[in-house]
Amino acid sequence: MTGRVEGKVAFITGAARGQGRSHAVRLAEEGADIIAVDVCKPIVKNTTIPASTPEDLAETADLVKGLNRRIFTAEVDVRDYDATKAAVDSGVEQLGRLDIIVANAGIGNGGDTLDKTSEYDWQEMVDVNLSSVWKSVKAGVPHMIAGGRGGSIILTSSVGGLKAYPHCGSYVAAKHGVVGIMRSFAVELGQHMIRVNTVNPTHVSTPMIMNEGTWKLFRPDLENPGPDDMAPICQMFHTLPIPWVEPKDISNAVLFFASDESRYITGVTLPVDAGSCLK
Ligand SMILES: NC(=O)c1ccc[n+]([C@@H]2O[C@H](COP(=O)([O-])OP(=O)(O)OC[C@H]3O[C@@H](n4cnc5c(N)ncnc54)[C@H](O)[C@@H]3O)[C@@H](O)[C@H]2O)c1
Repeated sequence: MTGRVEGKVAFITGAARGQGRSHAVRLAEEGADIIAVDVCKPIVKNTTIPASTPEDLAETADLVKGLNRRIFTAEVDVRDYDATKAAVDSGVEQLGRLDIIVANAGIGNGGDTLDKTSEYDWQEMVDVNLSSVWKSVKAGVPHMIAGGRGGSIILTSSVGGLKAYPHCGSYVAAKHGVVGIMRSFAVELGQHMIRVNTVNPTHVSTPMIMNEGTWKLFRPDLENPGPDDMAPICQMFHTLPIPWVEPKDISNAVLFFASDESRYITGVTLPVDAGSCLK
């Protein structure tokens, strides 16, 4: 039996850990080779989220190789268009083609209300979570068009790209913008049989929320909160009685969009949100 993305090549940003790593592994399990990029160092000024490392990216590479798939890795800041393009170009040169782009890299924010957000933090958020999504697609899409086989582009937005949460206005604005990028690319690239969609996750159990700063943001009433203290608050956002989803839940949605099972689906937002958008 062949895999659901057998013989395809996927370019994934933010692939050192978290959802990006999970997407790399899930797509590799179903037969894809991977071009994986990540910045692998601290880049955010006002954050409590620990940075990813070169070792994280190496671990993603080992996991993909363990599935007998090929992987090309590069340490790249996706805010840098030229460096991102150089990485994709090298990856395609090695792996031969490009069929799937997963623009997943992103940062959280410091938890300020919008009226207290500094211009620096606003700009940093927009640069990473909005502009870099556009740059990542722009860097990869010429290879898809040149391949003449169509393709699938999946952008990681958020439930915060469909509705607002307090204390993360710059994130919400950027993630709404990602939906706009998706719709614009979808209407422009449809003629090439290239589909463009977003996944819109609720809380996902990755270092982005599993850190002290986020626990404190959710439980300002406690001195030393942990994940168990955050869980009941997270669960209040949901219709299903769970606090968060796992990276593989998002990867399965990414895989569906990447595979031909969704061949005529383009321009849609797919919440993987335990019913958060119902509330
Ligand atoms: N975790 C959640 O609750 C949640 C919910 C909804 C959406 N998201 C989104 O999902 C995506 C993946 O996040 P995650 O949960 O896996 O978090 P994560 O922090 O574990 O992973 C994000 C990865 O992106 C990389 N990255 C960040 N900025 C980069 C840059 N400029 N260049 C290259 N790489 C960069 C980081 O190094 C890290 O490895 C993000 O876009 C995030 O906004 C996360």
